[in-house]
Amino acid sequence: MTTRRVFSGIQPSGDIHIGNYMGALRNWVAMQDEYATIYCVVDLHALTLPQVPAELARARVRTAKILLAAGIDPGRSLVYYQSQVPQHAELSWIMGTFASMGQLGRMTQYKEKADRTGQNLGLLSYPVLMAADILIHKVHAVPVGDDQRQHLELTRDVAERLNNQLGAGTVVVPEAAIPPRAARVMSLSNANSKMSKSDHDPAGTVMVLDGPDEIRRKVMRAVTDSANSIRFDPDRPGIYNLLSIYQALDGRSEESIEAEFAGQGYGQLKRSVADALIESLRPLRERFAKLMAEPGQVDEILAAGMESAAPVANATRDRIYSRIGLA
Ligand code: AQP
Repeated sequence: MTTRRVFSGIQPSGDIHIGNYMGALRNWVAMQDEYATIYCVVDLHALTLPQVPAELARARVRTAKILLAAGIDPGRSLVYYQSQVPQHAELSWIMGTFASMGQLGRMTQYKEKADRTGQNLGLLSYPVLMAADILIHKVHAVPVGDDQRQHLELTRDVAERLNNQLGAGTVVVPEAAIPPRAARVMSLSNANSKMSKSDHDPAGTVMVLDGPDEIRRKVMRAVTDSANSIRFDPDRPGIYNLLSIYQALDGRSEESIEAEFAGQGYGQLKRSVADALIESLRPLRERFAKLMAEPGQVDEILAAGMESAAPVANATRDRIYSRIGLA
């Protein structure tokens, strides 16, 4: 039986929030038990927004350390920087010739980021590079948060076109692996918008490296409503978001959680959410502190990941080049 393969990536922002953690990273760690897993710090993607070179270099290493601290095990997973495996960028050009302009222009993330930060071709072609990232590794599943659903659809469309035009088996058509809970964690200060690193209000964004006091302060100030009952009701986004975070960490059913909070006030719910977050993130924070004290170790791990990722990437590149008439 062939081992099923998994790939996903994260931008090198230097710290990640609980949305990234619960929507993606936790799943990455769990999937190591069942799949051949490949995880990438997608530093080329980061260039679609302006970067300060020294900060980018520092943030890239910190992001890699967060992945390791969260439980990505270099003994079981490949971890590397996207820019160090040049086949990603090389295949992106080919993928671009199979992507439709109309579909790219309809991407929600492109429209939002272009409105906020100004247009550049990289923002528009971001999902094309993402398709190359995924298809280069012949993976079956891509664990991502709900916001990446649309980009994954584009990857699948590109993959199907490649297989139709260049022959069956040119690439594997992957499935999105979106978690059943906390797939879209919302900002604590505006429950109608996704928790995001570029959120202008940091109070709405809990970072995985925030200390216990900071986590508690942010959660205790989370927006709620005036209904004063604690139920999983998507029409009450503030409470729904807190309950969803709690449920994703706690694992119990909606009924059981509603029963726990029956007759209680919002203060109790917030205290419980803060406690659950603080305890769940404690091991990550502690391991991260240890990794920060060991400079060099992470560089070795990522260099080894790059070495191991290169042969598969080369094979896919060669197969596509040959089928397209470039060999
Ligand atoms: N709020 C979220 N809830 C659940 N999952 C989320 N992800 C992002 N935000 C949420 C998932 O995290 C993974 C890595 O994301 P990324 O590195 O591509 O970062 P991003 O999507 O750019 O994250 P942000 O915070 O939303 O950044 P900005 O502010 O730049 O837009 C992905 O699997 C993503 O689905």
